[in-house]
Amino acid sequence: MAEVVIVGSTDDAGELAADAIQSLVAAKADAVLGLATGSTPLTTWRALAARHLDLSRVRGFALDEYVGLPAAHPESYRSVIAREVVEPLGLTPALVRVPADRGPIETAGADYERAILAAGGIDLQILGIGRTGHIGFNEPGSSFASLTRVKTLTQQTRIDNARFFDSVEDVPMHCITQGLGTIMRARHLVLLAFGEEKADAVAGAVEGPVTSSVPGSAIQLHQKVTVIVDEAAAAMLRFADYYRYAWNNRLAWEKL
Ligand code: PGA
Repeated sequence: MAEVVIVGSTDDAGELAADAIQSLVAAKADAVLGLATGSTPLTTWRALAARHLDLSRVRGFALDEYVGLPAAHPESYRSVIAREVVEPLGLTPALVRVPADRGPIETAGADYERAILAAGGIDLQILGIGRTGHIGFNEPGSSFASLTRVKTLTQQTRIDNARFFDSVEDVPMHCITQGLGTIMRARHLVLLAFGEEKADAVAGAVEGPVTSSVPGSAIQLHQKVTVIVDEAAAAMLRFADYYRYAWNNRLAWEKL
């Protein structure tokens, strides 16, 4: 079962996720992080940046990227990762990759998978979750065995991401995303979700049936998952009282 931590604020969530990254990097200076974009991880990046750690040897792989935007577009995930993660955290740009950042799109998925394997796999994957239940850009119906590949975004996801663009028509229709199988190979998943609009997806992912109709439910099959949610995103969790009880009574040696 995922460890579910219900926190009082998005800042508290960011501090906890930053704790997990900090202890990983203390043990392994060249740790491999899976990097998520979107609004949810921002407090994590902010908390980490404030700690002024030496993260120059950390390697990174972004979860996903739009297909069809020029790389220099400010909302390409290559640009977003550079602006919101690499620069504030002091990562080394050459050690951080985004899907389809080199070579033709047709072979970009296989190339990305090879690069992740060559790096020794992802140690800690930060995840958000979409209202559709997607993790990465794996929309409902994605195979649990899927690897990095090109996908079509749902209209719901395009609408949700329109806030970063002038209009929903400007949101690309296609993306390239780590697959659910790729995500499942990461050694630790840290899934963050905030706000009532995520409550349904969180409940489906954590407690619902394991089904590709809710891609986030794949986390139930992973050995080490930490779900960090605020009260609003936790509102539909049936066992919320137990999660609070377990967290408040965790053993002193237990780490995220
Ligand atoms: P958000 O996106 O963090 O911007 O809400 C999450 C997601 O779509 O996976």
